[in-house]
Amino acid sequence: MSQSVYLPSEEFARKAHVPDIKAYRALYSRAEKDPEAFWGEIAEREIHWFERWSRVLDWNPPFARWFAGAKTNVSYNCLDRHAASHRKNKAAILWEGEPGDQRALTYQELHRLVVRFASVLKSRGYRAGDRAIIYMPMVPELPIAMLACARLGIIHSVVFGGFSAEALKARIQDLGTTLVITADGGFRRGKEVSLKTAVDEALNDCPGVREVIVYRRTGSEISMKSGRDFWWHDLDAAASEDCPAEHLDSEHPLYVLYTSGTTGKPKGILHTTGGYLTHITATMKWVFDLREEDTYWCSADIGWVTGHSYIVYGPLSAGATTLMYEGAPDFPRFDRWWRIIEKYRVNIFYTSPTAIRALIRQGEQWPDAHDLSSLRLLGSVGEPINPAAWEWYYRVIGKQRCPIVDTWWQTETGGIMIAPMPGAVPLKPGSATLPLPGVVPEIVDFHGQPMGDNREGFLILRQPWPGMIRNIWGDPERYKEQYWSRVPGAYFTGDAARRDSDGYYWVLGRVDDVMNVSGHRLSTMEVESALVRHPAVAEAAVVGKPHEITGQAVCCFVTLKRGDWNHDQLGNELRQWVSREIGAFARPEEVRFSDALPKTRSGKIMRRLLREIVTSNSVTGDVTTLEDLSVVAKLASQQDEE
Ligand code: WT7
Repeated sequence: MSQSVYLPSEEFARKAHVPDIKAYRALYSRAEKDPEAFWGEIAEREIHWFERWSRVLDWNPPFARWFAGAKTNVSYNCLDRHAASHRKNKAAILWEGEPGDQRALTYQELHRLVVRFASVLKSRGYRAGDRAIIYMPMVPELPIAMLACARLGIIHSVVFGGFSAEALKARIQDLGTTLVITADGGFRRGKEVSLKTAVDEALNDCPGVREVIVYRRTGSEISMKSGRDFWWHDLDAAASEDCPAEHLDSEHPLYVLYTSGTTGKPKGILHTTGGYLTHITATMKWVFDLREEDTYWCSADIGWVTGHSYIVYGPLSAGATTLMYEGAPDFPRFDRWWRIIEKYRVNIFYTSPTAIRALIRQGEQWPDAHDLSSLRLLGSVGEPINPAAWEWYYRVIGKQRCPIVDTWWQTETGGIMIAPMPGAVPLKPGSATLPLPGVVPEIVDFHGQPMGDNREGFLILRQPWPGMIRNIWGDPERYKEQYWSRVPGAYFTGDAARRDSDGYYWVLGRVDDVMNVSGHRLSTMEVESALVRHPAVAEAAVVGKPHEITGQAVCCFVTLKRGDWNHDQLGNELRQWVSREIGAFARPEEVRFSDALPKTRSGKIMRRLLREIVTSNSVTGDVTTLEDLSVVAKLASQQDEE
């Protein structure tokens, strides 16, 4: 366990929303004693409601309704109320494209653009409850499309631009989508990532999609299908500037975001309106200690939940200036991010341990060449941050001046759950520290029994919280089974963790068949299903292998159908194949061929053994249930030959 403890500077603490540990404890215990009164007060203070609720929480485990009966609108809260205030001409979004183009949109201007796009959607017949897929690069029109949907109650699902046509198709179909909003392409490392061609490919099998709206970003040649495809700018030319925000029920679905589960089929995580908005708005202030004049930058892609909650909805609801950057951190050189921080005088910077480790490798000369003195607070999310990366981030980027908020949460939690309030909570590198008010974690053993301090177990959450997942789209049984059946009445996170004697949480990683590659969740089964679709593959087993930059890397064990295969060539082909089937971020680091895979007598592949092989190269676990021990020995010894 790390012995170092870091305290915020006196100046930081003095100005912070929550200035000391006593203030944190007071908030925590108030929430603990009466969660409904606590959240009700926050909702009242932070959010605009057209109509008030009858009850803060209607909890019918595992189904929750927060602020039931109340009416509100996320787009109204993110835009209208600020555009009508002293924030009217404040920058809402600062945007920089990878080629270096830039835009600054004030609250008033962003409001105008969202209203125009919403009016387009409305005039084309889209209504509350319809589903739209958004598949776009990191340009302002992506949040504009999200906010326009939210304005009308159209349920949106943003699909990360790195996903393949196959993955896109599965999401369009699962959601029963009638509208796709996309772009010709985007820029990444100086090249164009084409998006419209993937949409065209996906739509061959999606008869339910009526229309595609295409934003022109790159200007490259694409095909437009007459009667189905429309240019954003053509529709905008005829748009109206009158499109009020719908008064939606607090539990109206806001979005569905797909994430990997333990099967081959991604889960559509459903988030709704009022509770989600309350949670992310409160955490923006608690965790990022947001101040009116801050320039806030989260480097995630909006295609992941981090971008939804902490690039778009959280910052805008809180009236912040949120910065968006389209491209890669190393383009054209390794100092692109530091240039951006210097240029826009960024005060709060939120990124992932993977990114930090990749930048460490390039050397300190890159950040050292820039003035990073505007930074006040740093954040980390997506995976455990190893203390060495933490220390580097603290010293080289934060100049030992900026607290680091290590934020633990998940797509399902909607917002941050365990993280320090930076003016109040002393930091320990590698720990997400203490739960936020209203969050009640516990470490339990296999039977759901609470465990003492300093012991590793399963991380669960005892109490419902406003931003929580409401359901898995179209699959309430899976929702119950996946999250609420392990420990009755409690939410099962799928993470292993330990709590130290100071009550600090140390999240260790997933306990299920889910990998965490560069902070992106990826299911072993999803990669396996992709592999077995290849004509040469008979069977596949996939495990995560420790990787010094990306945390884990995808490692595949494959048995082949009969034939004369060139292993080198086929290995490359399969890596390419997976990236085509799922997306480039899922590309395996390693493909190993074997005559057979280790299985239990009932035929289940023993991933645990394979994990041990890739981790330590030896097998020490219990192998008595193995069908064929020789297979394991052979797989382990192969590594030595390489
Ligand atoms: C999983 C959730 C939360 C947005 C990005 C990822 C891991 C996330 C931390 C952290 C240790 C972390 C967990 C979690 N994780 N943040 N600060 N420390 N682990 O969202 O794709 O839903 O993944 O990421 O394993 O369960 P996600």
